[in-house]
Amino acid sequence: MSDLDVKKKWQPGKRDFIFLAVVASVILVLVLGTSDRTTKNVPSDTIHLQVTSRAECMACHAVDAIKPQPKGHTRADQCFQCHKQPQNWNQRPL
Ligand code: HEC
Ligand code: HEC
Repeated sequence: MSDLDVKKKWQPGKRDFIFLAVVASVILVLVLGTSDRTTKNVPSDTIHLQVTSRAECMACHAVDAIKPQPKGHTRADQCFQCHKQPQNWNQRPL
């Protein structure tokens, strides 16, 4: 029996810890990325229940209007894609 046949006991080294840290951070990023959207809902008030077009929204939410979108806001058309639409939207309130 030569010394070469003796198996070394495995011990975690520096590279193993680095590998584990990388795996852990990838999982962390994936988990954090699955959170719900955080944009504000469109209020469920009488104004917002009736509006059906982007042009109407922008009458009040353009830069110089009563409640402007924030600076650098997207120019995308589909408001409800990001801002949850009012409850019972587009139905006449009682
Ligand atoms: C007649 C004017 C008017 C129209 C039309 C209008 N809004 Fe508004 N909107 C307001 C005002 C005033 C506020 C702020 C007061 C409030 O919360 O009701 C507001 C607030 C908001 C907010 C922010 C709510 C918050 O929590 O701060 C969002 C998002 C919004 N509107 C989206 C829309 C979308 C999308 C449309 C079109 C479907 C629209 N608005 C049409 C006047 C309008
Ligand atoms: C791609 C996603 C996206 C789309 C589409 C979008 N918005 Fe926004 N909007 C945001 C984000 C993000 C904010 C800032 C964070 C927040 O709302 O809490 C914002 C903020 C706003 C605010 C200010 C809310 C407040 O009180 O601070 C208004 C008003 C608004 N958006 C109106 C609109 C209108 C009207 C449309 C359609 C023409 C629209 N948004 C489409 C993402 C979007």
